[in-house]
Amino acid sequence: MQAPVVFMNTSQERTTGREAQISNITAAKAVADVIRTCLGPKAMLKMLLDPMGGLVLTNDGHAILREIDVAHPAAKSMLELSRTQDEEVGDGTTTVIILAGEILAQCAPYIVEKNIHPVVVIQALKRALSDALDEVERVSKPVDVENTPAMLRLIGAAIGTKYVAQWSELMCRLALDAVRSVRVGGGLSSGSPSGNAENTSNTATSSDAGIYDSSVPVEIDTKRYVRIEKIPGGDVSESRVLRGVMLNKDVVHPKMSRYIENPRVVLLDCPLEYKKGESQTNIEITREEDWNRILQIEEEQVRILCEQILSVKPTLVITEKGVSDLAQHYLLKGGCSVLRRTKKSDNNRISRVTGATIVNRVEDLKESDVGTRCGVFKVELIGDEYFTFLDNCTDPKACTVILRGASKDILNEIERNLHDAMAVARNVMLSPSLSPGGGATEMAVSVKLAEKAKQLEGIQQWPYQAVADAMECIPRTLIQNAGGNPIRVLSQLRSQHAQGKSTAGIDGDTGKVTDMVEYGVWEPEVIKQQSIKTAIESACLLLRVDDIVSGVRKQE
Ligand SMILES: Nc1ncnc2c1ncn2[C@@H]1O[C@H](COP(=O)(O)OP(=O)(O)OP(=O)(O)O)[C@@H](O)[C@H]1O
Ligand SMILES: [Mg+2]
Repeated sequence: MQAPVVFMNTSQERTTGREAQISNITAAKAVADVIRTCLGPKAMLKMLLDPMGGLVLTNDGHAILREIDVAHPAAKSMLELSRTQDEEVGDGTTTVIILAGEILAQCAPYIVEKNIHPVVVIQALKRALSDALDEVERVSKPVDVENTPAMLRLIGAAIGTKYVAQWSELMCRLALDAVRSVRVGGGLSSGSPSGNAENTSNTATSSDAGIYDSSVPVEIDTKRYVRIEKIPGGDVSESRVLRGVMLNKDVVHPKMSRYIENPRVVLLDCPLEYKKGESQTNIEITREEDWNRILQIEEEQVRILCEQILSVKPTLVITEKGVSDLAQHYLLKGGCSVLRRTKKSDNNRISRVTGATIVNRVEDLKESDVGTRCGVFKVELIGDEYFTFLDNCTDPKACTVILRGASKDILNEIERNLHDAMAVARNVMLSPSLSPGGGATEMAVSVKLAEKAKQLEGIQQWPYQAVADAMECIPRTLIQNAGGNPIRVLSQLRSQHAQGKSTAGIDGDTGKVTDMVEYGVWEPEVIKQQSIKTAIESACLLLRVDDIVSGVRKQE
C-alpha cells in the first residue's frame, strides 16, 4: 500500500507548463493595456481611489500601477518593473511596461503555436537586446549640460506629457534650478557634504565659472537634498526654488526674533535639557535641602550647556531633539532664536545650505562648526501655519522647492511631474547624451533589428524579429493616443527610417511623422537604454517560468 505523496498545499492554485506561460503573457499584456493610454503628450489621466479612501489623479505609469491591486504573480512582477525604472532613472515607467507587455505578446505565438523552447526564445531576446542598445547609442548625440535653453527644452519635452504642461516653462526652471543647486563634483574638488569653509568658497567660484569636467564623478542626490514642500492655496505660478531650506516650524518661544539677517547657525542633534540617567535611576534623599540641591544641579547643567553654546555667538540654534523651558530662557537672553525637533533629513539639508556642522556634544562646539552662509532667517505665516525659511544662502548644496496649487491632489500630481523633470535633468547631467523622442529611437531600433533578423539562421530569427515588431508599439501608441491612423503613419515612418533618417518620429499632437531635430523632443539616452533593458530582461524572466503556484487560497 502506497500513501499519496503531497509536496504542496493542495488548497493553493497551481498552473504548469504551457498553461503557465500563456497565463503569464496574458497577465503582462493586461497590465500593459491598462496604462497604454497614458503615453505621450496627449495622455489621459487616471483617477484612482486608494484603499485608504485617498484620491490619486495621475498619468504617471508608476504611480498608477502602485495603486492598483493585482493578484496574478506575473502582473505583480510587472509592477515591480515600473518601480525599478522609477528608482533607476525616474522617467519612462509607462514606456517600459508597454514594451515588456508587447514583447511578450509578440513572442507568444512562437512558444504556444510553434512550440519553440523558451530557452531559445530567451537567447534570441538577449541577442536582440545587445543589438538594440548599440543602435540606441548610434542614434544618440551628446549635449552640453551648461546650455540652459537646450536643457530647458529637454526637460520641457519630459514635462510635455504631463499634467503640468500648462506651466511648462516655470516647472522646467524649477527642476533645472533644483538639480543644478545640488550638483557637486564634476571637475570641482568634489564631495563636501557639510562643506567646510575653504572648500566651499572655491566650489562657489569654479561652479559659477561653469568649469565642468566629466572625468570626475558628479554626485546629484535629488532624493536626499531636494525637498519638495507642498502648500495648498495660492497659485501654481507662485512656486519657486529656495536658495536654502524651508521647514514647517516656528521658533520655540514667542519672544524670539523671527527675522535675522546673516544668522550664525548652530546645528545640534542633542537635547538641550538636563541629562537624565541612562536607565531608570532611583535617588534616595533624607534631607529636604538635598532635594533643592538636586534641582539646582539640574538647573546649573542646563545653564552651562547654554553658556557653551552662546560662547560661539550664534543667533540661531537648531536641534533635532527637545529644548527645555529653562534652556529656552537662557538662549533667549543670549539673543538666539531656537528651533527644535527638526527631522534628521532636514538637519542634513540645513547643514548643506548654511555650512554648519551638526554637533552632537555641546562641549565640542567650535567656531568652524557655525554656519554663516545663510542670507536670511525668517518665520512667516502662510495660511494658518508658521513656516521657517533659511533663504538666500551663498552656494547652497541643497534646496527646497515650494509648490503652490489649488488642491492637495493637484499638488501631489505636480510633485510627481516635477520628480520626472528632475530625473531627466539629473540623468543628462550624469551622462550628457540624448536620444530622439517621439518613438524615433524605438523605430530606429526596430528597423535595425528587422534588418539583422534576416541574417540570422535557424529558429532564433523569429523571436528576434518579434522584438523588432514589439519596438514599434511605442510610435504606434503615440499615434493612437494622438488620434492618428496607426497603419498609414507607421508605414511612412518605417520607410523614412529605412532610408536612414533615424531622427524621424511622431508629432505627438497631430499624430504625423516629423523630424525630431526640428520638432525638438529629445530624451536622455540612459532612460531609453534602461527602458529597453528592463523590458527585455523582464520578458525573459517571465518566459523562463513554467510553474506558477500562487499562495492565495482558492475560494471555497
Ligand atoms: N511632444 C511629443 N511628441 C511626440 N512624442 C512625445 C512628445 N513628448 C514626449 N513624447 C514621447 O512620449 C514618451 C514618453 O511618454 P510619457 O512621459 O507619458 O511616459 P514615460 O516617460 O514612459 O513614463 P512616465 O513619465 O509616466 O514615467 C516618450 O517616448 C517620448 O519620446
Ligand atoms: Mg515621462
